Amino acid sequence: MIPKLFRDNWRAVKKRITYRRLANHWFTAQEIRSLIQAVRPYTMVGFDGLANVFELASAVIDNKIPGDFVECGVWRGGCSAILAQVAVKCDQHRRTHLFDSFEGLPEPVGADGVEAATHSSGKTDGKLVPIGFCAAPYEVAARLLFDVLKLPTDRVVVHRGWFQETLPSARDSVGPIALLRLDGDWYESTKVVLENLYDSVVPGGYVVIDDYGVWEGCRRAVDEFIEKREIETPLTKVDDDVYYLRKN
Ligand SMILES: C[S@@+](CC[C@H](N)C(=O)[O-])C[C@H]1O[C@@H](n2cnc3c(N)ncnc32)[C@H](O)[C@@H]1O
Repeated sequence: MIPKLFRDNWRAVKKRITYRRLANHWFTAQEIRSLIQAVRPYTMVGFDGLANVFELASAVIDNKIPGDFVECGVWRGGCSAILAQVAVKCDQHRRTHLFDSFEGLPEPVGADGVEAATHSSGKTDGKLVPIGFCAAPYEVAARLLFDVLKLPTDRVVVHRGWFQETLPSARDSVGPIALLRLDGDWYESTKVVLENLYDSVVPGGYVVIDDYGVWEGCRRAVDEFIEKREIETPLTKVDDDVYYLRKN
């Protein structure tokens, strides 16, 4: 059994190493630390997942990959805020699009499995009604983005509503995507994002799937899409939850 003090020290050292590794032309290690600390109360994504968002967004800028940043599944806005902050600090035009009901998850379906159904009182009809799980009002994300981080409102585009209703009409106005982050947990929420936005991700761009390691419906939607589209690029594991692929 490793003593707690030793574990905590090791985590702190690991974080310091990560901040130094991520430091780049635009952000010092201290600025990255401050950004990640500022968003922590506004996200359920763990440290490695947040470091990954920062790293991939920076790689997009470094490699001059065209396109906007998109997160589908925003909750309190912590992860989206990292994307938006990198876009604003490093680039003149790149926008960040946020898609969410801001009412929480809808009903799951059978493909989401038994654990998902425990959050919806056993209902698995996939109805687009809030089940009272993972809900955060838009105002919480807006506070982080516009009050705490003071991001310009014209660089952050908010698409409120169910993905199934907002994505089909928004996908043309969003245009090319450099980084697409999926964090909608359920089978249908993952499938609809892939069907509407995967083709807008440019070659060299990234698709990050937050829940691939944790929710069986999400994993199934991704695996089915990969098989149907004969995608050969392997998924890279970030931590127990998060995986990503770089589009060829
Ligand atoms: C796990 S949370 C997102 C976590 C967030 N990325 C973070 O940084 O902590 C899942 C979010 O997806 C949203 N969501 C899931 N399915 C959706 C759908 N079909 N339409 C709209 N929003 C959806 C929920 O409202 C919730 O805010």
